[in-house]
Amino acid sequence: MTFKMRACIALSGITFLSLVAAQAQDYQQKAPPYSDGTRPYGERVQTDGKYKFKPPKKGDQRGPCPALNALANHGYLPRSGVGTVYDFVWAMKAGLGVAPDLGSFLALYGVFVTGNGIKFSIGGPTNETGHGSGLIYSHNIYESDASIFRGDKYLYHGDNYHLQMFNFGPFYKNRTRDYPKDLIIDFRLARITHSLFYNPYFCCMPIACDLVAAGNYIFTYSLFANFTYPEGVVTRQVLRYFYSVYPLDSDGDDLEYKPGWERFPSNWYKRPSSDEYTFAAFLLDVIDNAKRHPGVVKFGCNAGKVNSFVGIDVGYLTGGLFNAATLLEGNNLICFWYQILQAVIPHGARSQLLDVYAELDKTFRLPAISGLGCPQLTKYDKSLFDQFPGYAEQYK
Ligand code: HEM
Ligand SMILES: *[C@@H]1O[C@H](CO)[C@@H](O)[C@H](O)[C@H]1NC(C)=O
Ligand SMILES: *[C@@H]1O[C@H](CO)[C@@H](O)[C@H](O)[C@H]1NC(C)=O
Ligand SMILES: *[C@@H]1O[C@H](CO)[C@@H](O)[C@H](O)[C@H]1NC(C)=O
Repeated sequence: MTFKMRACIALSGITFLSLVAAQAQDYQQKAPPYSDGTRPYGERVQTDGKYKFKPPKKGDQRGPCPALNALANHGYLPRSGVGTVYDFVWAMKAGLGVAPDLGSFLALYGVFVTGNGIKFSIGGPTNETGHGSGLIYSHNIYESDASIFRGDKYLYHGDNYHLQMFNFGPFYKNRTRDYPKDLIIDFRLARITHSLFYNPYFCCMPIACDLVAAGNYIFTYSLFANFTYPEGVVTRQVLRYFYSVYPLDSDGDDLEYKPGWERFPSNWYKRPSSDEYTFAAFLLDVIDNAKRHPGVVKFGCNAGKVNSFVGIDVGYLTGGLFNAATLLEGNNLICFWYQILQAVIPHGARSQLLDVYAELDKTFRLPAISGLGCPQLTKYDKSLFDQFPGYAEQYK
């Protein structure tokens, strides 16, 4: 399988679909080499020396993403919390075993929708990032309601970036040792149901909800897990370290959340370089989740009252290019995300996006976006969401 292809957003080249299918097969057929647990499957992540944990200093940016906060606290990302696309792609790979194709998408979306096209902040705005809002002020764009442990913006007086013990505590206490994947997936259903019933301004927007918020749960088992086995184990310690929850007593039931103090557990193993978490593997997880809870991914918002959800049809949103029935087929969801990324950035920034992608490709060898074989999106009608106060007004 060849990864070395030129980046260019057009309709040519081998289809990304076949690339995804091949990667997916690779991923599933990977023999579990140490499934008896005698040797760790993953690669130990360095947490000393240059990569020692240091809590943020005054002025350092920290925000809603526990992974990025931890990477910055260990110096995998600049400790200031502001970095370039390259910094992010490199840090996610080095610290968490995220493959550069997935890392690039996350970072490109970050830099073009919350940054200045060159750098972005994992917290709030900074002088260095100019007009960029940072991740904290990207509600419904990058940051979303019904995330795993952070509170919904409306439910906590505008605070969308602190972990809430109300969400974390019961989940944590549900198990004493490890947290199986299905428990984590099912928790998303509980969180969405909670938001529908308690948050009059609840919204589920493309990318923020179906990629980032869905990713919150998926990444917890696919990336935070200690990769002793190919599937990884999420223990209590893993949850506490990555989510910055510190025990106050020895039995660990009395807990304190320290904003911005996310850490890597010591003696923790990321996914190995032979099994980095690719965009294809992520897509499989998204589809897996959708099959377990059909209908969870619905775009739309509550209409200003609790339990008043109005859905927006994918067909209307994309001028008929995609529909709910086919969105989870083939590579359609990845196409949809790439096309929204292009649609939401200013026209003038599109060639800049290609340049940045080509630049990343030199180091990280990315699959060609052209290879996606995506149908051309001619209309992305975000104004359909303007009818909802949760999107248009104070909780934007
Ligand atoms: C450039 C890369 C990334 C960006 C810009 C980013 C951004 C964000 C944002 C904006 C949120 C808040 C989402 C919400 O409120 O639903 C978030 C949450 C989260 N992110 Fe990231 N993220 C990135 C990469 C990652 C990676 C590689 C992981 C891997 C573990 C990860 C794990 C999480 C988790 C688990 C949450 C949920 C936090 C909670 O609800 O307590 N993120 N991220
Ligand atoms: C940002 O710029 C403003 C205006 O020039 C200045 O007052 C402020 O100190 C700067 N902040 C930082 C953190 O450098
Ligand atoms: C633990 O999780 C299960 C499965 O999601 C759920 O049915 C149960 O109510 C939870 N228990 C507690 C104490 O939260
Ligand atoms: C991860 O797994 C390895 C191998 O079983 C173990 O030695 C290590 O303590 C675990 N680390 C964490 C943080 O659970």
